[in-house]
Amino acid sequence: METAKTLVHYQAVQPSEFKGKDFLRGDEFNRQELEYLLKFAGELKRMQKNGQPYQPLKGKTLGMIFDKASTRTRVSFEVGMYQLGGMAMYLNGKELQLGRGEPISDTAKVLSRYVDAIMIRTFAHAGVEELAEHATIPIINGLTDLFHPCQALADLLTIQEQKGSLQGVKLAYVGDGNNVANSLVLAATLLGLDVRIATPAGYEMDQTILLQARQYADGSGGKLLATTDAELAVYGADVVYTDVWTSMGFEAENEARLKDFAAYQVNRALTNLASPEYIFMHCLPAHRGEEVTADVIDGPHSVVFEQAENRLHAQKAIMASLIE
Ligand code: CP
Ligand code: NVA
Repeated sequence: METAKTLVHYQAVQPSEFKGKDFLRGDEFNRQELEYLLKFAGELKRMQKNGQPYQPLKGKTLGMIFDKASTRTRVSFEVGMYQLGGMAMYLNGKELQLGRGEPISDTAKVLSRYVDAIMIRTFAHAGVEELAEHATIPIINGLTDLFHPCQALADLLTIQEQKGSLQGVKLAYVGDGNNVANSLVLAATLLGLDVRIATPAGYEMDQTILLQARQYADGSGGKLLATTDAELAVYGADVVYTDVWTSMGFEAENEARLKDFAAYQVNRALTNLASPEYIFMHCLPAHRGEEVTADVIDGPHSVVFEQAENRLHAQKAIMASLIE
């Protein structure tokens, strides 16, 4: 029977090059490596749909630490690990000794002796970097306040499927310069997309990340526009993307954010400026009537559930690539 190993040949990338590495931001792999992961994810998706098992992770275990709520990340990682032949263990951060002050470094060293990889969703990105520094196994970021790389990989897989290719695709992100925006903009500029990000003043992307993305765009033939003008960003766009105005951990700012983001709602008037074949994307969960209107997210251009499904396939490619 065909296996993904024999199916995936992307010049200049050896699957072994990924072994043991971390996935923390979305730009730790170069363009060829990202393209390989997308191709691998597509093949794993096709195999799963065809009922062809691919189980390279038999006997392997993934520890999943959650300090924040989750539906998609938790379920897709757990199911993905099972489909790859391994098992995943849910660990509530509050119930670990970590939640009572055990050092991150000790936790990293202990868990490295039990499990084969760790997926973590938490607040401070620095904590995940510390975990990665002290662990001897791959660390996968399942969302921090600063990055959401697994989401970005699934998003790019979705855009590639829907648009046929990535180079030059006009991607407009409208809303908060948050974790989802940071990883998406980094990976999309590495892959040569024409990225426009529109945020209200005071909610821009981290300037260091933006500068890094500009360099990636220069190297890939992509483009990057950062603006406060949502109409300018969406004009002629192939993809219109938004996310919640108040991310997890920022609830105290909710009232101020509702006012500050009011002009950045993705609605019919805004999407009328996009390409007639535009697709609407959102990482979910969504707040209808806030960052997006129901007619847009539930309308014919929306691919949000294809996007959510692709979390599973993209993360299977990551796990099968990184875990030794
Ligand atoms: N998009 C996403 O990460 O969803 P969950 O918060 O449900 O995991
Ligand atoms: N930006 C959102 C994404 C949720 C998946 C948050 O951090 O809450």
